[in-house]
Amino acid sequence: MSLHDFLKDKLPEEKLALVPKGFEVIGDIAIINIPPALDEDKYLIADALASHSKNLKTVLRKLHKINGAARVGEFEILYGNRTTTLHRENNCVYHVDVAKTYFSGKMAHERNRIAQKVNDGEDVLVLFAGAGPFLISIKKTKNVNITGLDNNPAACSFLKKNIELNEIEAGVILGDANSAGHLFKKSFDRIVMPIPYGQDYFLNLARPILKPGGFVHFYTFKKDFEIPHFKRLLEEKGWHIELYRNCGDVAPRVSRYVFDLREC
Ligand SMILES: C[S@@+](CC[C@H](N)C(=O)[O-])C[C@H]1O[C@@H](n2cnc3c(N)ncnc32)[C@H](O)[C@@H]1O
Repeated sequence: MSLHDFLKDKLPEEKLALVPKGFEVIGDIAIINIPPALDEDKYLIADALASHSKNLKTVLRKLHKINGAARVGEFEILYGNRTTTLHRENNCVYHVDVAKTYFSGKMAHERNRIAQKVNDGEDVLVLFAGAGPFLISIKKTKNVNITGLDNNPAACSFLKKNIELNEIEAGVILGDANSAGHLFKKSFDRIVMPIPYGQDYFLNLARPILKPGGFVHFYTFKKDFEIPHFKRLLEEKGWHIELYRNCGDVAPRVSRYVFDLREC
């Protein structure tokens, strides 16, 4: 049964039409975007969501678009009493606090795709590592030297916990990606860059710390029509585009894209 089925006897048609069809699940937390027109029905909707899936212990309402450098959303707790959870995917487990560090459960396929591309023995850097979903997926799958960097102290502290939880070894740096050129004395075979919204300029930081012929997995947010221009720009800057693909919508007509780039 869908959330709408649970609510159809409890809300009039015109309100039911406004109930979002989708919601995000991270561990046992559901995050839903309830529009202001449904303010007085928010607890009813949260209760319906919790009954719809018995594994859910918390329902959060997303209050604003994710903003700020840490990419952390603001939430109202509608059901349950915590924002921390354990999220499992691709044989890895993540302890996260969705109110303190960015995390999305929608990228599991993509993280596994990257982990499969990495070769044993590589030196890998994950910039904007957050609580560690790319870093841990890679290190659990391949025998690499890997380091993660993030400028959010809470993200780094969850990253360290998650490294322990998954029984792997990895470096963690609390620092600003803008200083990457000074922070690292060595260069990397591969750099993963799940950059924050609208900050494409970070790609320029990769080349000085990338080995010749190295790879970058670059995440960016674009409207479909912007892609041909962006591809040309990358090629003009000397990147070879091995693959690019749409990883899902983040806002009306805006999608997250990944570009697998090779230094040439
Ligand atoms: C879109 S999130 C990605 C997090 C994680 N890789 C994931 O997929 O869940 C972007 C991350 O970049 C971090 N960040 C933003 N600006 C940064 C900067 N200048 N230097 C280092 N980290 C930064 C944020 O704290 C956040 O954890």
